[in-house]
Amino acid sequence: MNSKHIQEAAEAIKGKISSQPKIGLILGSGLGVLAELIENPKVIAYDEIPHFPTSTVVGHAGEMVIGQLSGKEVIMMKGRFHMYEGYDPQIVTFPVRVMKQLGVESLIVTNAAGGIDESFSAGDLMLITDHLNLTFRNPLIGKNDDALGARFPDMSQAYNRDLQQAALQTAKEEGIELQQGVYVGLLGPSYETPAEIRMLRTFGGSAVGMSTVTEVIVANHAGMKVLGISCISNMAAGILDQPLSHEEVMETTEQVKEKFKTLVLKVLPKM
Ligand code: HPA
Repeated sequence: MNSKHIQEAAEAIKGKISSQPKIGLILGSGLGVLAELIENPKVIAYDEIPHFPTSTVVGHAGEMVIGQLSGKEVIMMKGRFHMYEGYDPQIVTFPVRVMKQLGVESLIVTNAAGGIDESFSAGDLMLITDHLNLTFRNPLIGKNDDALGARFPDMSQAYNRDLQQAALQTAKEEGIELQQGVYVGLLGPSYETPAEIRMLRTFGGSAVGMSTVTEVIVANHAGMKVLGISCISNMAAGILDQPLSHEEVMETTEQVKEKFKTLVLKVLPKM
């Protein structure tokens, strides 16, 4: 992946749209509902975009939807790429580079995550205040392209403080309970063991998942502001005496989609 690839992908998208998206959204497992609300939607399948990989997971469509949402010009990724699918972190984060190239300034990242914090319940929404990148992969490894960002980018406000405030304010106004916490990104695809969850809790993690952290590193490298929202789709391994399954994750995200939708729709005008 290099800047020529980024430009070619961005040009291909630009050629199909008339709007100028300023806000990007990446929708996690089961959270694709927002795409249906986009006005004047232009749908572009990933396989129509040069250098884009195609997504391989159930519950993740592979398309960009571009249009207006809550009066804002947005570009939405319906379905993302994960390292557990075998993609390098540079590939996983390629769409974020393309969004930046298109003029996107802020990014809303969403995901389904397992609750580590025992005060959470399945079905909660969590504002991501910070993250632990325990994938031990970094999308910025290799020669730095200074045109894309700094060699050693600051991550001290990886999740923009103003956007966090806007989300908290919105949740309050809408009567939506919004938890807050630290998202732990692991490689997956196996879920964690109870011992791993106990370790992550002592590390300060509040919720765990298999996405987001590499995308957020690239967004910060590119100078984008990030807002992160997790849907707590299940309590993490060992907390409740029951096995974890992707079906449970999909069922819970289905149940929370209304409040998730409201939160995003109402926070957008504040961005
Ligand atoms: N662990 C990791 N990833 C997840 C989980 C989990 O419990 N739930 C949803 N994504």
